[in-house]
Amino acid sequence: MPNNLLALNWKMNKTPTEARAWAQDLSEKLVPGDATLAVMAPAVTLSALAANLPAGVAFGGQDVSAHDSGAYTGEISAAMLKDVGASYVVVGHSERRDYHGESDALVAAKARQAQANGLIPIVCVGEKLDVREKGEHVPFTLAQLTGSLEGVSSDVVIAYEPVWAIGTGRTATADDAEELAAAIRGALEQRYGAAAAEVRVLYGGSVKPDNIASICAKPNVNGALVGGASLKVSDVLGMNDALK
Ligand code: PGA
Repeated sequence: MPNNLLALNWKMNKTPTEARAWAQDLSEKLVPGDATLAVMAPAVTLSALAANLPAGVAFGGQDVSAHDSGAYTGEISAAMLKDVGASYVVVGHSERRDYHGESDALVAAKARQAQANGLIPIVCVGEKLDVREKGEHVPFTLAQLTGSLEGVSSDVVIAYEPVWAIGTGRTATADDAEELAAAIRGALEQRYGAAAAEVRVLYGGSVKPDNIASICAKPNVNGALVGGASLKVSDVLGMNDALK
């Protein structure tokens, strides 16, 4: 079984100067635990993270182009992320799906592009509140997963993030997280066979120092994708300690 991945999603927060200070503060205070840490940060901060994060803490982008290079103004390629030292990239976050109209097919293309350049994509899936209230969260999320993994190898991380729990303070219960993580694991077994056991399935949505341990104790949950509580070093240390 893989160890827990504590993936920190800064979203559109922190300048390079702030990122440098944050990474230096973390370097002074972090006592490595059992979890692997990765900071998913705005592209312009990644050089500062490369130079200042403690050894063993990985980093990555929050999105990547589906194209290799060329006339795609504003986009960032997987080769660029790899060159700055990134290990991971988030694809298909619900904020990208919602605000930028990203389809499952585009998310899969981005994940393939990440893998082709030696990055591990963190593929996000999860239902909105109306879907959950209709009791359709499992089939909905599995259909999203199927579409988002088209042509994607097992060198991938899945993040189950129910949209109604993101940034709302309304956390899914550990049992809610495990229900979907187990269903996702089953789908991964069908797709990848025995290799599915090595694929991390994360939970995301209002994870904090005081709820991370119970969620990650569930058998099919291998870590968390954390937004709000990723911004303060003290919260990150609290979550890292909780996973020991
Ligand atoms: P949150 O965000 O922890 O602030 O709910 C999680 C995410 O969007 O990845």
